[in-house]
Amino acid sequence: MNDFLYKDQQLWCENIPVSQIAEEVGTPFYLYSHATLRNHFRVFAEAFAKVPSIICFAVKANSNLAVLRVLIAEGGGVDIVSGGELYRALQAGVEPGKVVYSGVGKRVDEIEYALRSGILMFNVESLQELEVINRCAQNLGVSAGIALRVNPDVDPKTHPHISTGLKENKFGIDIERSLETYRHARSLQHLDIRGVSCHIGSQVTRLSPFLEALERLSLLVHQLKREDFDIRYVDLGGGLGITYNQEMPPHPSEYAKAILETSRDLDCTFIFEPGRVIVGNAGILVTRVLYTKSNDNKNFIIVDAGMNDLVRPSLYNSFHAIRPVIEENRKEIIADVVGPICESGDYLAKARKLKDFHRGDLLAVFSAGAYGFTMASNYNSRPRIPEIMVREDQYYVVRRRETYADLISHEEIPAFLKNKAI
Ligand code: LLP
Repeated sequence: MNDFLYKDQQLWCENIPVSQIAEEVGTPFYLYSHATLRNHFRVFAEAFAKVPSIICFAVKANSNLAVLRVLIAEGGGVDIVSGGELYRALQAGVEPGKVVYSGVGKRVDEIEYALRSGILMFNVESLQELEVINRCAQNLGVSAGIALRVNPDVDPKTHPHISTGLKENKFGIDIERSLETYRHARSLQHLDIRGVSCHIGSQVTRLSPFLEALERLSLLVHQLKREDFDIRYVDLGGGLGITYNQEMPPHPSEYAKAILETSRDLDCTFIFEPGRVIVGNAGILVTRVLYTKSNDNKNFIIVDAGMNDLVRPSLYNSFHAIRPVIEENRKEIIADVVGPICESGDYLAKARKLKDFHRGDLLAVFSAGAYGFTMASNYNSRPRIPEIMVREDQYYVVRRRETYADLISHEEIPAFLKNKAI
């Protein structure tokens, strides 16, 4: 369920017509529903309410401060993958004890920042990283909470670019070598071994890969406990998929039920790192038709949002539903929806059956709340677009539109070039 609904032939976000926001802030923009965000978080958290658990939202999916704030206010923690994400989450008010830090390439300065902030644990992805974290903790005179991110070698059956739990992927420590790595970790004095973690991939639409990973992880947890490791946390990562088109992913309550049944005797606090399932369908991208044209027998709808604003279709060939903001009686055509960027790969939809849109029409690109703005860039020197959050009948600009001056604000012409007569 989400709060983007059609009423009186037009799209509303909660209690505001999307067209009103478009008139007032201009296009393109990202639009988030506060109610949907909060409900998605609550549904997920309530599914695990019966067991000790921390829901650590994956900041990479949407790192806007206001979005983070909504989830943190609901009791959420965060899963971060960089110092920048840690900074954002702390600014949004996260409790450091609810922060887990994943990623294969943590720098020393980032590790030190996380240690000084007192995060719950690092999900460690290699032997060398383990040694570096131990050394950093020693230098700072603290103990570093850690889990090993184990690669359980299961196929999440998702897009190859976003599957992470297979042996051939760069992520985690091979499950077969994990026991010896834990034993080695125990010899490092500045580590507090707290848990076991894994993340198998993203946009996973079946339960079986999660359960397979959990079964493998459970065997490891039991073995570790037999060897007197004090394993208190089992982090199952994120990855639960959403409906973009026809997918029928399990509801969080089914996901929770299956996980809890498979893990009855673990006796640990669960950590989850959901991203997409919380924010994906809590956001849309609103864009306006600039031009339409036909070449041979192909129709193009040229809009003011491009691959720099939403790269998922170009990068993964992903499907995002596109619907009119104001419904009008038009015939249907097959068209490509393309952006203004100078690349053939710049499209939001290919060969899609759509209403015959006209110049000036507003379009809503759905399921854009996750990996939308966070993957945006300034390519073609396009200022990044604003993010708007609606709550009931009010909207808030939670990130303003970048200006041309913003585009060059970090650049400098060195004196030797400045003084040169042109
Ligand atoms: N935890 C870890 C360690 C991750 O690597 C990820 C996503 C998540 C949690 C959150 O996964 P989610 O619940 O959102 O599926 N840019 C791609 C997705 C990349 C996902 C990377 N890792 C896309 O637009 O589909």
